[in-house]
Amino acid sequence: MKILLLGNGGREHALAWKIAQSPKCEKLYIAPGNAGTASVGENVAISVNEFDKLKDFVAQNHVDMVVVGPEGPLVKGIYDDFKADGRTAAVPVIGPSREGAVLEGSKDFAKGFMKRHGIPTARYETFDGTTVDEGLRFLGTLQPPYVLKADGLAAGKGVLIVPTLEEARQELRLMLGGMFGNASAKVVVEEFLSGTECSVFVLTDGEHYQILPEAKDYKRIGEHDTGLNTGGMGSVSPVPFATKEWMQKVEDRIIRPTVDGLHAEGIDYKGFIFFGLINVNGDPMVIEYNCRMGDPETESVMLRLKTDLVDLFEHVAQGTLDLCSVEFDPRAAVSVMLVSGGYPEAYKKGYPIEGLNEVEGSIVFHAGTALKDGRVVTNGGRVLAVSSYGSDKEEALRKSFDEARKIRFTDKYFRRDIGQDL
Ligand code: AMP
Ligand code: GLY
Repeated sequence: MKILLLGNGGREHALAWKIAQSPKCEKLYIAPGNAGTASVGENVAISVNEFDKLKDFVAQNHVDMVVVGPEGPLVKGIYDDFKADGRTAAVPVIGPSREGAVLEGSKDFAKGFMKRHGIPTARYETFDGTTVDEGLRFLGTLQPPYVLKADGLAAGKGVLIVPTLEEARQELRLMLGGMFGNASAKVVVEEFLSGTECSVFVLTDGEHYQILPEAKDYKRIGEHDTGLNTGGMGSVSPVPFATKEWMQKVEDRIIRPTVDGLHAEGIDYKGFIFFGLINVNGDPMVIEYNCRMGDPETESVMLRLKTDLVDLFEHVAQGTLDLCSVEFDPRAAVSVMLVSGGYPEAYKKGYPIEGLNEVEGSIVFHAGTALKDGRVVTNGGRVLAVSSYGSDKEEALRKSFDEARKIRFTDKYFRRDIGQDL
């Protein structure tokens, strides 16, 4: 099969690494890819949002399957766009339809969906410019801290957690006044949930599902979860509190009702569902849905997936996911992200990266890198994900930290406490 994967981050390098191992994959293209994906497939210089160019490429190169990494093109309706074009209508796109991607694209839709299907989540109400006063009153019925969420996609910055009622009321006015542009024309106000987070992933064909290895990610820039939010500083899998018993609750209370709910509402969904969960006194609750894999969770989850991913994708496309099973690697896997000094605020790009060929035993997934005059250079805030196996997470972390030290670039930074809270 010829497969085209869309995206250019660490998640996509990890997916490409796994896809390329499949005996079913005869050729892998990545659009646009990065310096790392170029080592497992062929990069194609088309951006993920150029649907017409992507369709031309698929038709001209007889691509048999398209796998979508990031949420952007899914929310814009790439699945439907390919389906509506005679040249690509028969090519399976792994990723939900535009309607399905609304689970991530609109927090208000996601909350309403959970309410309709009895899926445990924080108590909430949604407000817009015509209901500001109701919103201010509703805040008064909640306990601090206060959680305010822009309804639409806001580049991962649309959630505010505010300590006092006065600030929460002020922020609600600002959000509804256009703080995040159109994305905060509606704002979800919800109860704060206290607990430890866990990311659970499934593949669904719209009717059946298979559960993939779970992971925990680390979002803050500073050790012990301090400082600004980032795109993710590391991940570990498995998650110790996600025992068989806990995962059974997740499946019964959250996964099955979600997939059944999508089916019952006639939503075409053939792709990944990412359940952002929180463990509240032993009970899983949903913080958010995403319509894609997580980053940097994928950089540890792919290590633990023993099953052929392309085979799973074929079952997704054919609607036969019930006819297969998923095997997990019993080892632990972790990923430690090396970032550019200054990130997530201002940082410099273009520094040469040395030592990549000294790494042994770990797998280095590229996130923000580029090739310049034949050399790999930094090209983003999050630069490289150093992923390792171990008999337990401590061993895997030791390995990743040892290898992370061998890789050198100006102002390199990584968190040395990944996994230590678990
Ligand atoms: P989201 O963009 O929905 O992933 O939210 C960003 C982060 O805010 C989540 O990963 C949580 O850490 C936190 N968060 C969101 N909603 C809540 C909530 N209701 N209670 C506690 N923390 C939350
Ligand atoms: N790691 C969180 C995300 O991918 O949204």
